[in-house]
Amino acid sequence: MARELNEVGVVGLGTMGAGIAEVLARAGLSVTAVEVSEGALARGRAHVEQSTDRAVARGKLDAAERDAIFERIRFSSSLEDLADAELVIEAVPERMELKAEVFAELDKICPPDTILATNTSSLSVTELSVVTGRPSKVIGMHFFNPAPVMKLVEVVQTVVTEPSVVEDVEALAERLGKVDVTIGDRAGFIANALLFGYLNHAVAMYENRYASREDIDAAMRLGCGLPMGPLALMDLIGIDTAYEILDTMYKQSRNRLHAPSPVIKQMMTAGLLGRKSGRGFYSYAEPGSAEVV
Ligand code: 3HC
Repeated sequence: MARELNEVGVVGLGTMGAGIAEVLARAGLSVTAVEVSEGALARGRAHVEQSTDRAVARGKLDAAERDAIFERIRFSSSLEDLADAELVIEAVPERMELKAEVFAELDKICPPDTILATNTSSLSVTELSVVTGRPSKVIGMHFFNPAPVMKLVEVVQTVVTEPSVVEDVEALAERLGKVDVTIGDRAGFIANALLFGYLNHAVAMYENRYASREDIDAAMRLGCGLPMGPLALMDLIGIDTAYEILDTMYKQSRNRLHAPSPVIKQMMTAGLLGRKSGRGFYSYAEPGSAEVV
């Protein structure tokens, strides 16, 4: 029978980490949410506040439930506070050296049976597992943006992940109200491997001035019934995150579909990171907002 995980940690409170912390706390788990600096911690907290306030405004949550969610999240700037966690989900930026550093630290701090999960969307879970002394307890738990809304969790098992760890994480995903799919460790897993070739192609179409951003997005929304056009979705995902994912997939597969369109790197360098910075393919009323100006 699956182990019920109740004490969990999240490391990194960017768009994904903050969303994951919210999902866990909404499901009644006790969450320790860790960021490196007080500033980053305040931004992570503000992200959860914005999301839960929106749910209250829409009548999906009452104020008491929102307060209870915040009581279940302990915000901290020290990884040492994860010493009692049964599961830690890492959601720091998509760079191997950063994630490896976090995993090596967690390995020292957490008890040997703590499950270490990564929310990576393209890096090798196996490579991360071997920086720890517990590769069999390392797994991928890949959420989708916005985490409180999107139903899928990809559970990524390596060749050494213990079957009981897979079961525990699958059971947790279901408790969070998500649908899980379990797959092996390959860059992009299922969803990103299929999605990012399409997104990259849409960017190339825009870059080559074949069509306007509005027309590309309208074509996919209205012609194919997608909730968002590809350029608006790039802004939601974050241009830097999208670049890292494409670059990793391209390096692994050498499939030209995934060779990042040049403008993506240029936008990243110029700080046009999408919604989170206030400007990407579109401009937004304020950083983080969904309102296009
Ligand atoms: N955080 C929390 N909740 C949010 C949110 C956010 N950022 N954005 C929207 N929501 C909630 C709203 O509160 C609303 O909730 P309700 O139905 O309970 O009232 C619901 O989502 C619908 O929102 P809206 O009515 O404002 O807007 P839409 O109907 O246009 O939905 C959307 C917004 C859910 C973002 C929708 O456009 C969508 O599904 N877009 C596609 C998203 C997608 O493809 N994500 C995957 C990206 S790839 C990825 O994440 C992988 C990673 O590795 C990069």
